[in-house]
Amino acid sequence: MKNIVPLAALVAGAASQSTFEPVDFNITEALLDNGVNLSALPDLAPLVDRASTSGCSAACKSLNLIFGNSNLEVQSETAFTSFINSYWSGQQRDITPQCVFKPTRALDVSTAILISRLTQCPFAVKSGGHSAVPGGSNIYSGITISFEKLSKISLAADKKTASFQPGHTWYDIYTALEKDNATVIGGRVASVGVGGLTLGGGISYFSSQYGLACDNVLSYEVVTASGIIINVSQTSYPDLYWALRGGGNNFGIVTQFNVQAVPQGQMWGGMRTYLESSFPALIEAYYNLGMNAKKDGKAHQILSFAYSGVPVAQVELEYSEPNPNATILAEYNAISGAVADQTGVKSLAELTSALEGPASGAGLRQAFWTWTVKLDKDLATSTKDIFFEEVTAITDAADLVAAVSLQVITEPILEKMNVRGGNALGLSVADGPLMNVLIALKWSNTTDDSRLNQFAAKVKDRAVAAAKAKGKDVAYLYMNYASPWQDPVAGYGAANKAKLQKISKKYDPTGVFEKLQPGYFKLGGAPKIGSP
Ligand SMILES: Cc1cc2nc3c(=O)[nH]c(=O)nc-3n(C[C@H](O)[C@H](O)[C@H](O)COP(=O)(O)OP(=O)(O)OC[C@H]3O[C@@H](n4cnc5c(N)ncnc54)[C@H](O)[C@@H]3O)c2cc1C
Ligand SMILES: *[C@@H]1O[C@H](CO)[C@@H](O)[C@H](O)[C@H]1NC(C)=O
Ligand SMILES: *[C@@H]1O[C@H](CO)[C@@H](O)[C@H](O)[C@H]1NC(C)=O
Ligand SMILES: *[C@@H]1O[C@H](CO)[C@@H](O)[C@H](O)[C@H]1NC(C)=O
Ligand SMILES: *[C@@H]1O[C@H](CO)[C@@H](O)[C@H](O)[C@H]1NC(C)=O
Ligand SMILES: *[C@@H]1O[C@H](CO)[C@@H](O)[C@H](O)[C@H]1NC(C)=O
Ligand SMILES: *[C@@H]1O[C@H](CO)[C@@H](O)[C@H](O)[C@H]1NC(C)=O
Repeated sequence: MKNIVPLAALVAGAASQSTFEPVDFNITEALLDNGVNLSALPDLAPLVDRASTSGCSAACKSLNLIFGNSNLEVQSETAFTSFINSYWSGQQRDITPQCVFKPTRALDVSTAILISRLTQCPFAVKSGGHSAVPGGSNIYSGITISFEKLSKISLAADKKTASFQPGHTWYDIYTALEKDNATVIGGRVASVGVGGLTLGGGISYFSSQYGLACDNVLSYEVVTASGIIINVSQTSYPDLYWALRGGGNNFGIVTQFNVQAVPQGQMWGGMRTYLESSFPALIEAYYNLGMNAKKDGKAHQILSFAYSGVPVAQVELEYSEPNPNATILAEYNAISGAVADQTGVKSLAELTSALEGPASGAGLRQAFWTWTVKLDKDLATSTKDIFFEEVTAITDAADLVAAVSLQVITEPILEKMNVRGGNALGLSVADGPLMNVLIALKWSNTTDDSRLNQFAAKVKDRAVAAAKAKGKDVAYLYMNYASPWQDPVAGYGAANKAKLQKISKKYDPTGVFEKLQPGYFKLGGAPKIGSP
């Protein structure tokens, strides 16, 4: 089988021009470069001239012939069913692809993209499968590419860099690295995948120390729309490197992340639960910790309000050293009356497992909605109040878990967005600190889908209006928390959106990642139009 690297080298020279993919790009020849001879594939041979459009059946049969049954699951197989049940949200489990392809290396991903192009069979890619967006990482009647066999993890001998492939959850990564007292900047819940989280930003316990996950990526190995495998860094394809830092799945399939590693041993953290009488003190502490992040970036917080018969607050606190009494957390630690307290000295992997229970609810129907405002104590309070006022209308929904979480995009996080040429999010230090809001809903009955999304939209609209009235609304939307009716790319600002579209045109002139991979947040707009 021919190696693709010479081709990549050939194309690298042309990368500065607008023709990353020539207008006469020949898919048949590109597949031959990958070692795939279409004449030998009965279902694809007639498609060479694209005369036929019976796409997905031909695509899946051909992938089966090329890669064998162990790398291709069809609907009748039990492995297909267990794959579908690995999605976090019930809505994504409702989607049945034509087949599930499990590549073992980047070249296989390249071949799958080329076959998708040839057959015009759409695809989706799944890393940890935790997108709350239906169709974000699974595709009805198309090819769903599962990264489960792309599972390399390595730490450099000097422990300054680590590499991992998208088949992993954060738990896998942290567990592998903590043997060497090292870690990387990633998710806070064990089962979340490395792929989606890193491409949309990635808020970590350590973000005020080191920045978002995307700002700690040194290079990406990417399979492009024309099936070429390239290494993308600040020095090679710098425009694409910028775009991948927040651009989601719009630019290519990342088959390896090479990231900065940092020293990390045992730390302190966990969750405390409080009742309503403590809410004002918690909001005060939340605001002050957010404002003070510059003083000590080792602390982290998520303040959530939820309805569970009565209003409760849950605060997730972390300190990156094994110190339960960090000065910066003194105000929080002084709030007495916790009805539950799970804080303690633990490893990072242990902390992500502890959060798995309350945060997961795998298999239930799920909705995420988000917005951003300037960090403001009164807006934190009004967001909480609006949530509890509106939630009474939905508490009859079966198996409902409704929560609103307040986080802070701190000044140190914003500062670190500037490293290595910056990212695509459109934020600057002068904007900060910012309050990031997430509404997370879980329920079990599909008949409640619309009204629960309507509830979230209403809380958002009211809270954003309150922020606007104070001149404290912000356009930015965190992609990893956005609902299908929200448009995070527009939230990056008109200039960044235009720049992203220009970069997409250069690397993917026919719009493969926009059209043949239709799921998730596209450059052109939200996945769903209007409101729920
Ligand atoms: C329980 C839970 C906890 C969470 N905790 C955090 C947290 O601590 N911090 C945080 O910032 N966010 C968090 N999130 C949000 C999370 O970042 C998003 O849900 C994210 O999409 C999950 O990534 P994934 O790989 O698991 O998802 P997937 O559904 O597999 O992928 C999401 C999207 O990314 C794309 N994608 C994935 N891998 C690749 C790749 N290799 N190349 C190209 N595109 C790819 C897919 O096409 C898909 O559109 C959490 C979500 C949940 C449900
Ligand atoms: C692509 O290349 C193949 C093999 O060289 C050739 O037969 C075919 O005509 C080409 N297709 C187009 C559209 O140029
Ligand atoms: C492709 O396969 C056909 C039919 O098996 C064969 O005739 C042809 O020589 C092969 N082409 C290449 C480039 O290997
Ligand atoms: C990790 O740190 C612990 C505690 O400081 C130490 O005992 C252990 O030897 C370290 N392990 C490695 C591989 O450096
Ligand atoms: C990309 O970089 C990695 C790590 O440096 C290397 O192993 C790989 O061969 C490179 N791939 C290409 C296509 O150049
Ligand atoms: C932390 O502070 C509490 C309360 O003041 C005290 O009881 C405890 O011993 C302290 N723990 C450490 C490790 O300093
Ligand atoms: C879902 O809700 C509808 C409408 O209230 C109800 O008729 C139906 O029985 C519910 N389904 C389940 C599985 O509970």
